[in-house]
Amino acid sequence: GRITLTMIKPYAVKQHHVGAILSRIEKEGFHIRALKMTQLPAEKAEIFYEEHTGKSFFPDLIEFMSSGPVVVAILEKENAVDDFRKLIGNTDPAQAEEGTIRRTYAKDKTRNAIHGSDSDESAKRETRFFFSSMEEFPY
Ligand code: GTP
Ligand code: MG
Repeated sequence: GRITLTMIKPYAVKQHHVGAILSRIEKEGFHIRALKMTQLPAEKAEIFYEEHTGKSFFPDLIEFMSSGPVVVAILEKENAVDDFRKLIGNTDPAQAEEGTIRRTYAKDKTRNAIHGSDSDESAKRETRFFFSSMEEFPY
């Protein structure tokens, strides 16, 4: 599909990487349809990542994702979901390819800089989770 959702995660925001990451995303041809900074209370982070409920890393993930503000955006581009996952790279920055956003800006598997939707279905769910129709602007 043409739409994906991204979230610049708390540690990357704290490290002042927001501008560089958004710049990279635009350079790669993604159009920003919606954008905001917000902070997820733990109960909201648990819903966003509910597919991972019960996994060993879930408590750390929720604590981290609710630890500070995030920058969330709806992105539009042809083949957005797959191309964006390629641009951000492997979940573990040590395994992410050179030049990917995670390889460049991530610290470790938890503080991995950025989120990208994993399917068109997830993208739809995640855009509605964060944004109302009045906050979104088609390209
Ligand atoms: P997101 O874009 O954040 O959804 O990452 P992803 O799609 O690359 O990975 P996934 O959805 O499988 O996992 C969500 C998040 O949980 C990851 O971004 C990691 O921070 C964390 N995570 C996943 N697997 C592991 C793991 O094996 N160990 C640890 N410590 N964290 C993990
Ligand atoms: Mg995921």
